[in-house]
Amino acid sequence: MPNRPSNRDPDVGGDPPRSQWSREQAAGIERTPETVAPIIYPPESTPAEDVHVWDTWLLRDRHGRLADVDGWRVVFSLTAPSDLLPGKRHDVARIRYFYSRDGRQWHDGGPVFADDALGQRQWAGSALYDDGDVYLYYTAAGTETASELTYTQRLVGASGGTITTTESSLSVDGPWTHRELLRPDGEWYETESQSRGMIYTFRDPWFYEDPETGEVCLLFEANAPVPEGSDRCGGDAALQEFNGAVGVAVSPSGDPMEWELRPPILESICTNQELERPHVVHWEGRYYLFVSSHMHTFAPGLDGYDALYGFVADSLGGPYRPLNESGLVVTNPHNAPFQAYSWMAFPHHEEILVESFFNYFDFAGDSLDEIAHLTEREQRRRFGGTLGPTIRLTVDGDRTRVLGTLDHWHIPTLNESLPGFDVDDPAGPVP
Ligand code: FRU
Repeated sequence: MPNRPSNRDPDVGGDPPRSQWSREQAAGIERTPETVAPIIYPPESTPAEDVHVWDTWLLRDRHGRLADVDGWRVVFSLTAPSDLLPGKRHDVARIRYFYSRDGRQWHDGGPVFADDALGQRQWAGSALYDDGDVYLYYTAAGTETASELTYTQRLVGASGGTITTTESSLSVDGPWTHRELLRPDGEWYETESQSRGMIYTFRDPWFYEDPETGEVCLLFEANAPVPEGSDRCGGDAALQEFNGAVGVAVSPSGDPMEWELRPPILESICTNQELERPHVVHWEGRYYLFVSSHMHTFAPGLDGYDALYGFVADSLGGPYRPLNESGLVVTNPHNAPFQAYSWMAFPHHEEILVESFFNYFDFAGDSLDEIAHLTEREQRRRFGGTLGPTIRLTVDGDRTRVLGTLDHWHIPTLNESLPGFDVDDPAGPVP
């Protein structure tokens, strides 16, 4: 990770050049058999019928492994009452947890926090299980004291959590101490008032200890300020508004609640505005950095999809190059382009598995405006609001390939071996 430089602007010779997801690379985004996930059908049941579930993350240890707590595994999800319109969920999001013994049947543990969490509502994050202590990182969205809904975003850590188990249940409990960890500095990371286009981003903190250097890091989604009058994007102000970044902070002492900002490890200036839920999988000695992004956040002149995008580097700080040349790793079929979102990759034996949530179905429009005319009931029916089938991927150097899927909510246990695949016909498991 580069040290804090005295001059932060790469344009005037301060930091070394940062990895960029360029327009030329993103122009190559195209659906291929290797990158399209199978169509999703609604599951028969979900662990919590009364709430919708979207962004979900797994409880992991310091080494990035899925935590096994007395034979249980735990996931945390953003949730909202299922009788709300799907677009309203971001305004009331609360974090709940679910736990499972076999990685298939999940129990609803309820909301993690009482009413003491920071923000008007909580957006995505990550969870660390460290020697019996639970740390939950999340985005405090909105200002507690404001009477109207606001879009301020701060990275928050909650410490003090513990887990108790019995033969038949698991409980994640406080008392939690919530502490604001980071806000944008305005130089590496855009503040709300600097933002020129779509809503700015400073969210989705993701704990990661670098297995090679031991450095303790927090990745997050952000935007990189492009000053007015800059010659970035050929001086085109309309393209400069698209300034996504993967940010990073480090904890020099290793304390999970003390962080210092560092420059972004990846930017997509002139290319895309949102590099969401960044996370890394260390695989065969390389760093695979994954983000989710939307069709509508690509800059004018580029046609991307709602998809999981990926980049690979030999060190956590980069330089990163896009996987499959364009960056596209997993997307939805062309006739169900919004069926899943918010993908999260994790290693399992010889494969990388990817969980995501089941988003809109029976809907192949160009934008969500196309369902706005439907009745509220019909709009609700089009929203999955539960985890989608887990996707199986093979990764070989700079190339990835979708092999197929497991069931909705199937997060295999540590020793579970998955059915084989015929690599020449990856449509289904080998009988
Ligand atoms: C991705 C996302 C996250 C954010 C959450 C808010 O689905 O935009 O970046 O934390 O949704 O609901």
